[in-house]
Amino acid sequence: MESAITRRSLLAGVGVAAGAAALGLRETAMGQDVQIQGFEKAKTDTEASKRWKPISDRKVRVGIAGYGVCKFGAAFGFQDHPNVTVAAVTDIIPDRCAELAKVCRCDKTYPSCEEMIKDDSLEAIFVATDAVSHARLAIAAMRAGKHVASAVPAAFGSLEEAEALFKTVKQTGRKYMMFETSYFHEDLYMMREMYRLGLLGKVVYAEGEYYHFMREPIDSYKGWRIGLPPQWYPTHSNAYYVGVTGMSFTEVSCMGIPSIIEHLKPANNRYRNPFGTEIALFRTADGGTARMAVSWDTPGFSGEMGRIRTQRGTFYDRFATEGMDIKVPPIQRPPLPPGVEAGGHGGSHGYLMAEFIEAILADRKPLVDVAQALAMTVGGIVAHRSALKGGELLKIPQFAL
Ligand SMILES: NC(=O)c1ccc[n+]([C@@H]2O[C@H](COP(=O)([O-])OP(=O)(O)OC[C@H]3O[C@@H](n4cnc5c(N)ncnc54)[C@H](O)[C@@H]3O)[C@@H](O)[C@H]2O)c1
Repeated sequence: MESAITRRSLLAGVGVAAGAAALGLRETAMGQDVQIQGFEKAKTDTEASKRWKPISDRKVRVGIAGYGVCKFGAAFGFQDHPNVTVAAVTDIIPDRCAELAKVCRCDKTYPSCEEMIKDDSLEAIFVATDAVSHARLAIAAMRAGKHVASAVPAAFGSLEEAEALFKTVKQTGRKYMMFETSYFHEDLYMMREMYRLGLLGKVVYAEGEYYHFMREPIDSYKGWRIGLPPQWYPTHSNAYYVGVTGMSFTEVSCMGIPSIIEHLKPANNRYRNPFGTEIALFRTADGGTARMAVSWDTPGFSGEMGRIRTQRGTFYDRFATEGMDIKVPPIQRPPLPPGVEAGGHGGSHGYLMAEFIEAILADRKPLVDVAQALAMTVGGIVAHRSALKGGELLKIPQFAL
């Protein structure tokens, strides 16, 4: 893992010094103490928090599962939200479970997520376990009557799993939200709001990238990151279309590039994956197109980012129009509840958690609902299939609510 200050975080005004000195996550690689990409904490606007208005005085009882290498269970600030009680936590590895309990100031622990979801006092579960188990645990939790927030991706390389997740959300009526961090990047937030206001017209072309060099894979539960097909982890880049329009991809042709990195050779990983970089060209639901790249094996400039060209203007680092007359309204991310930090990944963590809790309290659909979660995830699963077939154009199953 190399140390990285992303271009996106620079553009978002996240201070370099603040990033480098941050309280973010660190690991040791090649004898050096380095920061895991994306965990540089953004500055929290505490003044804005004073404008935050509670919509309820109720507390949602949340159970949190998973405190792995990214310490994700505690990274979104559930423990700091005024409308949340973190009522139980779990990690299969006892030391991690104990640390998660301490960080979340929670007394109740369970030996596994499977055990925790039997706790009738819990209303919602945050699944921050390994990517392989997200869909299985989310489904089990919803069947047990809980609302679910899940780390990305929603499903792991399996269309059947995606289908089962979708059916479960529909059958149980529980809230489901995927915590895709790109959704609350400052630029993507602005694109989405302008799109919703009808200021942009159609998105003609979107492009997104998730560049994360992994000479050695980051540590992971039972080694799920070793040789991971790039487009099985597609949500950070795909968000730069789905997270703007709320729509899906309908077909894809994807080029995979065989890797020289050891764990990304097919003989060296459980996925028989030969690719370290996969570049997908999608047809979008509204007849536009998108080029989405995921790369593990190209060192250098890294990040989670994207751009859009629309009928009325273009976001390339900033919004630009030529020959058009568009007034850009002042758009800012909403205030966070007092005590909740914006957090890592472009200052997105606190916003995602607050959105999930608000959706429960207001009994409304969360922003990144199951349809959008699967639009981002499934597009990548089919893209990897296409790459294995030399770029064959393949149809993508649709999961519309
Ligand atoms: N920007 C982002 O959105 C972003 C960034 C980093 C990680 N992630 C996602 O967050 C998740 C966690 O990442 P990580 O690197 O910490 O993963 P990891 O593999 O290091 O850790 C997973 C943890 O889950 C625990 N676990 C597994 N099954 C469990 C069960 N049934 N019950 C209780 N605990 C269980 C394991 O013991 C382990 O500690 C991953 O799915 C990853 O994809 C997202």
